[in-house]
This record gives sequence, C-alpha cells and structure tokens, in this order.
Amino acid sequence: QLQDSVSKPLAGVRLTITAGPTREAIDPVRYISNHSSGKMGFALAQSAAKLGAEVTLIAGPVDLQTPTGVKRLDVESAQEMLEAALANPSDIFIGCAAVADYRVANIAEHKIKKNAQSGAPQLELIENPDILKTIAEQNPAPMCVGFAAETRDVETYAIDKLKRKKLALIIANDVSNSDIGFNSDNNAAVVLSADERVVFEQQSKTSLAHQLAHYIANHFHQNFR
Ligand code: CTP
Ligand code: CA
Repeated sequence: QLQDSVSKPLAGVRLTITAGPTREAIDPVRYISNHSSGKMGFALAQSAAKLGAEVTLIAGPVDLQTPTGVKRLDVESAQEMLEAALANPSDIFIGCAAVADYRVANIAEHKIKKNAQSGAPQLELIENPDILKTIAEQNPAPMCVGFAAETRDVETYAIDKLKRKKLALIIANDVSNSDIGFNSDNNAAVVLSADERVVFEQQSKTSLAHQLAHYIANHFHQNFR
C-alpha cells in the first residue's frame, strides 16, 4: 500500500488531457489550425498513466501512437474537443491542446471556387469556446492545469491565464526559442501557481513530461485530496 502510493501516486485518479491542434473547417477541403505536434500532451498522458492515473487523452489531428494504458478519443474541432471533455469528467484536467481560438461562421458545403469577379473570399470568424475555462467553471472540484505558449512576456501572460481561467497550475513555454516547443523533441517550462514558481530546464519532452506528472501529482495530493 505505502509502496504503491510512492511509485503510483496517481492510482485511482482520473486524469483527462487535451493534446494536439484543433482543425476548423472552411469548406470540405480546407481548414484553419495551429502549429502543434501533440508530443508534449501525449508524453504527459504516458507519464500520468505510468504513475497509475486512469488517463483519457482527447487528441486533435496528430500523427502519434497512442500511449500504453491510455484511453484515446480523436476529435477535429474545438467544439468536438469540448464535448469530449465534458463527457469525460475527471479529477485532474490538463489542457495541452493548441485550440483554434476562432472558427469559420458559415462552413461552405462545397469547395469554394476561385472567382475572378468577386476576388478573394472574406471569411467570417467566430470565437470558439474556451475548453479549459469551461471545465474549470463547470466541474465541482477538479484540478485544472493549463499551458501557455507565448512568444514574449511569457510569465506575465501565463499568470494572467492562471487567474482568468481559475487554474491550479499553468505551465509556461517560450515558443520564440526554436530549439523547443512545436515540433521539437525538447522543451523547457516554468510552472506557476498562486504561490509557486518552479523552473524546469530544457530536456526531452519525455523527461519533462515525467517531471511535470510528478509535480502535478504532488500538487493534487497537497491541495485537492
Ligand atoms: N485553451 C482551451 N480552449 C481554448 C483556448 C485555449 O482549452 N479555446 C487552453 C489551452 O489548451 C491552454 C490554455 O487554454 O491550456 C492557454 O491557451 P492559450 O491559447 O495560450 O490562451 P488563450 O486564452 O486562447 O489566449 P491567447 O491565445 O490570446 O494567448
Ligand atoms: Ca489561444
């Protein structure tokens, strides 16, 4: 029992994680999306499963293998991702996906054709739901963890998101550094909460995920159990 709580600190804990980009259709052949390989989210899902968590991985379109022992749900759009998140209540929710902030208001039923008269089409965009904020507001007591990929003023923006989305932790990345983030196999992060600031140096996404999963497990036991 004691041994298990040390090696499997997330045993019996339900953890849902979003990963990868979302894809917002323009017409049947085109879409709007974000850069995101999904590697960080998949690595975190794998690490959490190793720590004993019952992991649900809600994945946007990515080219990655499902981590062992993880339940994977594939989605395309932000709306589909939100529906899947609401349908899978958990104790810990981690928003790692690069969700498209906007979608096209009126998706064309047929392929939009070039038209010499009307010129370039104008796309009307509407805002997507904030998945993380919705989960943080609607679930009674889950621990919500966000990511903030920023190109400047990284920690200022991250703290703002921590408060605005009512998160327990936010994991901030500087994506202006091309050695890390996006399609890279490496990443570095600063984890911020109301009263903590912990720096995780640049390392492989697998190793960073392992450290973050342990950190999240500790935070969960100290504040949510
Ligand atoms: N997020 C989400 N749903 C959205 C937008 C963001 O769940 N519609 C989550 C991301 O998964 C991430 C966190 O919120 O964990 C921060 O995402 P980010 O894009 O940095 O924040 P935004 O609030 O969209 O702000 P901005 O894009 O203007 O920086
Ligand atoms: Ca955004």
